Formats: sequence, structure tokens, C-alpha cells
Amino acid sequence: MEARPFLLLSLSVLFFMYPTNAQMPGFVSIDCGGKENFTDDIGIEWIPDDQFNYGETANIVVANETQKQYMTLRHFPADNRKYCYTLNVLTRTRYLVRTTFLYGNFDNNNVYPKFDLSLGATHWSTIVISDVNTIEVRELIFLTSFPTISVCLSNATTGKPFVSTLELRPFNGSIYYTDYENQFFLSTSARINFGADSDAPVRYPDDPFDRIWESDSLKKANYLVDVAAGTKKISTIMPIDVNRNERPPQKVMQTAVVGTSGVLTYRLNLDGFPGFGWACTYFAEIEDLSPSETRKFRLVLPGAPDITKAAVNIQENAQGKDRLYEPGMPNISLPFILSFQFQKTSDSSRGPLLSAMEINKYLRINDGSLDGTVISNLVSHYSAADWAQEGGDPCLPVPWSWVQCNSDPRPRIVSIFLSRKNLTGNVPLELTKLTGLVELLLDGNSLTGPIPDFAGCGNLKIIHLEDNQLSGELPSSLADLHDLKELYLQNNSLSGTVPISLLKKNLILNYSGNINLHKGGNPRSHMKLIIGSSVGAAMLLIAIIASYLFMHKGAEKNYKEEKLPPPLPVHGLVSSLGDVATEASHFFAFSEIEDATKNFERKIGSGGFGVVYYGKMKDGKEIAVKVLTSNSYQGKREFSNEVTLLSRIHHRNLVQFLGCCQEEGKNILVYEYMHNGTLKEHLYGPLTRERSISWLKRLEIAEDAAKGIEYLHTGCVPTIIHRDLKSSNILLDKHMRAKVSDFGLSKLAVDGAAHVSSVVRGTVGYLDPEYYASQQLTDKSDVYSFGVILLELISGQEAISNESFGVNCRNIVQWAKTHIESGDIQGIIDPLLRNEFEIQSVWKIAEKAMMCVQSHGNMRPSMVEVLKEVQDAILIERGAEVRREDNSGDMSRGSIHTSINIGSTDPGVAEPLVSLDESIVHPR
Ligand SMILES: *[C@@H]1O[C@H](CO)[C@@H](O)[C@H](O)[C@H]1NC(C)=O
Ligand SMILES: *[C@@H]1O[C@H](CO)[C@@H](O)[C@H](O)[C@H]1NC(C)=O
Repeated sequence: MEARPFLLLSLSVLFFMYPTNAQMPGFVSIDCGGKENFTDDIGIEWIPDDQFNYGETANIVVANETQKQYMTLRHFPADNRKYCYTLNVLTRTRYLVRTTFLYGNFDNNNVYPKFDLSLGATHWSTIVISDVNTIEVRELIFLTSFPTISVCLSNATTGKPFVSTLELRPFNGSIYYTDYENQFFLSTSARINFGADSDAPVRYPDDPFDRIWESDSLKKANYLVDVAAGTKKISTIMPIDVNRNERPPQKVMQTAVVGTSGVLTYRLNLDGFPGFGWACTYFAEIEDLSPSETRKFRLVLPGAPDITKAAVNIQENAQGKDRLYEPGMPNISLPFILSFQFQKTSDSSRGPLLSAMEINKYLRINDGSLDGTVISNLVSHYSAADWAQEGGDPCLPVPWSWVQCNSDPRPRIVSIFLSRKNLTGNVPLELTKLTGLVELLLDGNSLTGPIPDFAGCGNLKIIHLEDNQLSGELPSSLADLHDLKELYLQNNSLSGTVPISLLKKNLILNYSGNINLHKGGNPRSHMKLIIGSSVGAAMLLIAIIASYLFMHKGAEKNYKEEKLPPPLPVHGLVSSLGDVATEASHFFAFSEIEDATKNFERKIGSGGFGVVYYGKMKDGKEIAVKVLTSNSYQGKREFSNEVTLLSRIHHRNLVQFLGCCQEEGKNILVYEYMHNGTLKEHLYGPLTRERSISWLKRLEIAEDAAKGIEYLHTGCVPTIIHRDLKSSNILLDKHMRAKVSDFGLSKLAVDGAAHVSSVVRGTVGYLDPEYYASQQLTDKSDVYSFGVILLELISGQEAISNESFGVNCRNIVQWAKTHIESGDIQGIIDPLLRNEFEIQSVWKIAEKAMMCVQSHGNMRPSMVEVLKEVQDAILIERGAEVRREDNSGDMSRGSIHTSINIGSTDPGVAEPLVSLDESIVHPR
């Protein structure tokens, strides 16, 4: 095979940069899905990713698109993996990396793709396709610290992830140096060439670094609008002295706009903002001013009065005509919607001039897994193996297929699944440096040599080394692993004796099939199963062995997805064989519960499932104790099933399940205690009179709840459908962060498919009418209920009311729909919100809520889409809050404040809570 300029590996591809004559050295331009090398019209040399053997390629035809690199793309399955391109780079070098996406309807799907893009472990952007023919472009400027970078696609929420091009452009010195570049990437939000003579961008070869300088005449929604009257384009053919080559190219500086009436104004949406950013404006005097004329102006930026103080005099600042002056702000706080103005000073004879502008957002670098270096050393020994090619960070944004990580901000690897991967040689020593390791599966390989010392992995619970060719003695340090519960060593060539200390431990140990390995004094007994002395019944042994055999039959990669064994209703042992990554469920003694609740003294709620009591443990931990009504469960089996499931669900936005108790004929569930009660009380309980929650807070609550629900829908296998979402099931903690409660007691959804259930469960007002009619349960039923909750957040009205919605209407959905469809949003906004909200963000939520309550489930958005909308609304609201603070001296605001009391006399809001159907509420 002819020598290729790059080395292809199976899943990620390493592209080496190579100098050529035709283009700038170091350019890498990958035509994803392409078949051949080619040089385009502007002299960029493209290479195909044709040996990347993951994903599929597609050809697309888009009207008026003639660039060859946009006639192909590569797409990937919509699964829970990430797909990474790995590129070689020079370390400690600044680069521009650009990815582009032209959808072109390649999959003929009626939902547009939406997925995440990341650079290494750092989330770069969410790509949301909203138009078949529009190229989405993402650019980052960054300083490399390693010899490779990985650009990864993952987390498809709709459609399939795909990519059209991937480009890498090295800089020289550069103007993009910042004090923060070891912690932040710069993500390009705007790079504008003002006064451009066409819609076409200026790029290579005019710009030797192939940055894309967008034309200001290219009109886009909310981009470069509100242009002041009297704005005129000017241009010159004179050379411009841009003094250093990373300044904007001459072609960009040869055009400009001037404000002939004394001002230049623009408004544009800045993707990724509000936040801190790097901003630079570029000026060159290209008009001939007579000696008596001057051009002096100031930048007026809302919220940044300091900037306005300095006046620009281009000729003076640049020391001459046709020379560049580039005042910049290395760290400035900018809103999502940026309005700015250049205003001539009173002593200036000419209006302001603007040639170009660049705005980049600081994007905090995610340092990735703490095990990144160790695991990449490990992987480097197996460079030919498929599993070693996944690229990027082992844990983020999603873990490699054979790895599991914990959820720390800098995650650690907790599980390694390398069963039957044809591993040879010694057990890689890197594994002993994974200090967070809980579970290690290396069975069924051809590993040789001794078992290394795992003393550094103090959390190890499960080790599978069976069916290898390991030799030597068992290291005595195995017995020091405090949490070790399962150790499988059978069918190796181990020798010596099994350390007594290991035999004494409470663990499942199997060392059969090692001819030379003996238990001191009794060489026959090869399989030993030792259970804690407190529970030693023979029945239990049999049950555990049976479930162990059941579980491990054919277990390989899908180890985690194996069915759980039937739960064993035995103190302390439930699910300890099932889910090792999470805690086994805790069993409380009834006496403990009695003590904590002071004999069920304080009732804090009741509902369909039972009564909830407040409790405080000996260690001070506050708990909510739910005593299920006796007929809730058919028997112990069903209760144990639920409990096993509950103990596997962990999410910041789900009320934490602490354990259970099944004694004295009672089924009891114990949860963390939520200090601030239910959302319902805060919206229209008696509490609202004193302190109603602001719109921003409501949005944050919606965001939290949406994340919790989204996790039930997409993070749990199998999917969990809540079935009873309502404002009384959204609880608020000390810090007013929201968590969803009462989940998991519902039946599991079957593999995402519709589920037929005999009894429709749910609460009137929140119940999906489609589910009610068809009894077909899907995750979209939860979306319906969440839509109702969004309407409650906007309006402060209950889901069902006999009075609030006028005659012939009892239902919030119908009522809100009538108002929203006639454009009357004000008519449904909670008066308690006063006027302290951005109408734009309320509209966003109202429109999404309307989508959620569509009558057909398939027309409703997914929770992820709803979450995105809520987050967008939060950005708008936060930006506005900053502006409101800046303007707090305004007269207008004072007058808004005086009208607030009207709201609290509204009959719709004052109703005190009578029916307490929430599960866990705060004590009164
Ligand atoms: C920018 O300035 C803010 C406020 O002074 C500071 O918190 C932040 O760390 C700075 N840098 C970046 C990259 O945001
Ligand atoms: C292991 O090697 C065998 C034989 O070479 C091959 O058929 C099999 O696919 C390999 N398995 C893996 C997981 O690489």
C-alpha cells in the first residue's frame, strides 16, 4: 500500500500534518465521508476520512452548494457512545479548530439531528440542526497541551450525529494569547467584516490563517440588526498596514462602515453568552480627511460605562492613515443579546467608523478524568485493538464502552470491562493505579504472569481474573482490600496456598481449576463461599449461588444490563450481587425508624402511597419516612423489587432514596428530607403571600425537575416513566434546588416501547389524555404532565380549578391555550411575578408548554428538548437580570414596584392547601 500521509486506526483516526507548497503548513482539512484527496477553489487541500471504519458515509445534494466537501458527510449511530477524530498537533501551539455540519436531509428523517460536540473532555457545543441547507460552523481557538486532540460527537438526542468537515489551522504567535488560556478555550461567537462588498466571507488565501470573516451584509435573524440610519459602506484599494500577520487580513481592513449621522448601532445574538469573553474591534482610517477634519468616537456598551470613557481617534491611535488600530478587551462580561453603539464625540467632524470585530467566549476547559493519563498509557499497549481506539477522555462527555466512571467533577474510573478481549502478556500494571476502581473484569483472556498488587485500589469490590493463564502466588495484599466481595480466580495456573486472611474474609472466592493452588491443609476444597457469620443459613447459600450462576451465565460486555437476580429479602444482602457500582439498598431496623420519628410523631404528608413522617437519625441526618399503605404491595417480592430498583437510581435532581424497612408488617421507604416542601405550596399555597418565587427561580426549578425526569427517561435502563408528575411531586431542598419525588414506584417501562398497563395511574389535571384513552404508556406521558407544570409556573394557577378559568373551563391547559393562541400571554402570567421577567423568556416557556400538551405523544418534544428551552430562557432571564441591576436607578422600575399588591388579592392564588397528596413535605 502506498504511504499515506496519515495513519488510520479503526475507530479514531490520527491525522498527521505535513507541509506542502500549495497551502499554509500545518493546515489539516478533513472531508468527512469523502472518497479522495482534492484541492478546492481557494487552494485548501482536503483529505478524506475514508479509512475511518466507524459510522457511515452519505452523499447529499443541497441547492446552490457546489463545494465538494459539502457533498458528503459521515454519520454515526444514535447510541450512548462517543465518536472521536483524533488529530496530531504540536504541543504548546495555538490552533483554530473548526467543525462544520451541513445536514442536507441525509437520513430522510423528519426530525433534525441534535447532538453534542466536544473537544477532549470539554463540552464544546450542542449542534442543533434547524435547517436542511444551512451550514452550522463551530470554531475554537486554543493552546494545545498534548500531542493529540480529539474532536468527539456524542449524546444524540434526536436524529443521528454527523459531521461534514473538520479543519485545523495553526497560528503563529498570536493575538489570541490570553492570561486564561490554560483554563479556557476561546469559542468564536462573532467575527465580522464590516462594509463587506458581498455576502461572501473573507477567508484563505486572503486570511493566511483561514479564519472566516463574515460579511456584514449577510442578513440573519437577530444578527446585525437595528442598524442606525445614515450607516454607509466605504472601501479603499490602498494597501493597509496591518503590521502583524495575525491581525485581520488587508481585505477585511479595506472595507468599513461609517455612521454619517454620528452613530453606528448594531444588535446581535451572541451564541454561548451571557458570560465572559474576549472582544476586539479593528479600525483603519481609509477615508481622506482634510487637516481640519477629525474622526473621534466612543463605544457605548450597556453595562460597561468604563469603556465609554475612552475616545477613539483612529489616525492618532494608529499613527497614520491606512494603518490598523485594534483596541480589545481581554475579559469582558457580555450578554446574549448584545447591543452596542459607536457615538461621535462633540468635537469630531466625522461620524464613527468600524472595520471589523471579533468576539470569543471563554469556555472553561474540563480537565477530564483524573485517570486520563494512566488509562491512555494502558491503551497504548494495545494500539491494534478496537476497544483501545475510542479516543478522547475515558469518562467524558460519555465513557468509553468498556469503562464506567463515577460522577465526580473530575471523574474516576470505577469499572473496567475487558472480559474476552484477547489480552495477552501480564496484567497491565496501569490497572493498579486506578485508585477509584471498584470492579475489574479481565476474565477470559490469555493473560500470563503474576497477579499484581492491587493495594492502591482500596475500593475494589469485584475482581474477575478467571479463565486466563496467570501464574505465581496470590498476593496477600488481596486480603487487605477492605471492600472486596467477589474474587474469581478459577482456571488459571496459580500456585501456592490461599492466604488464611483471604479465606477469613466475608467474600465469594473461587479458585478452582488452579492445580497447584491449595488451601492450607485441605487441597480438595476449591470453591469457597463465605458469608458473614450473622447470616449463615444453608438456604441463603443456595439462593446466592443460584443467583450468582444465573447472573454470570454468558455475562460479558453487557454485564451491567443483565437482569438482576430475584432480590433476596435478607437483611443487608438485597441487591448486593446486582448493582455493584451503586450502593446496595440499606435496610433500617424498625426500632431505628421508631427512634428517628419519635414513634411516628410528626406527619408531614400523605398521599396515594401512604403517610410520610419526619425523622431525625442519631447522627443528625433528617429523613422523610414513608409508610406505605398495607395494600400497596402484593407481597414481599414486589416490595423488594421496587426497593432494588430505587436503590439503583441516583441523580442530583431526584429525591434520594436512603433505604427501607420491612418489619412489623409494614413496608417503609426512607428518603432524604426536603426542607422547603413542594413546588405546589410555593406556587399557590399560603406561603406565596409572603414570598413568591421569582420567574428566574421558577425557571431554575423547571430546569432541575426536567433534568431529573430526563434522567429517568434516558439515564436508566430500562427507562423509567414517572407516571405521576405534578407540582406536589417536585420538592425543594434547603437551597431551593428542585428534586423529583415519587418515582420508581411506578412499573418499569419496557425497553422504551409503549407499555400496556391495566390501571391508568396519575392525577387529574396532569394526566396525558392519550395515555388515558389508549392506556399506552410512553415517556411522552410525563412530557404532558411536565407541560402542565410549566403552565403552573407561568400562571401560578392550579392544574384544575372550578373558579379560576372562567365558565366552562376547569383545566389549565385549555385556559392557557386560548390565551396563548390569541397572543395574550399577559393574560396568564402570575400577577405575583410583578413585571420582573423578560416577556421573551415567558413566551419561550409558554410555547414549549403548548408543545408538551399536544394531544398526540409523538408531537410532543422529548424532555431533553424541553430542558434546552428552559435553559435558553434562563440565559435570557439572567442577561436581563444583569441589565435590570445596571438600570436600577430607572424611574420606570419604581413605578412598576408600586403596582404589585394587586396580585395578592387575586382569588386564584389565595386558596390554602387542603389536600396534602404530596409524599414528602416539610413540617408545619
Ligand atoms: C474575567 O473576569 C471575571 C470577573 O472579574 C473573573 O471572574 C473571570 O475569572 C475572568 N476570566 C474569565 C476567563 O472568565
Ligand atoms: C480474538 O481473537 C479471535 C481469533 O483471532 C478473533 O476471532 C476474535 O474476534 C478476537 N476477539 C476480540 C474481542 O478481539
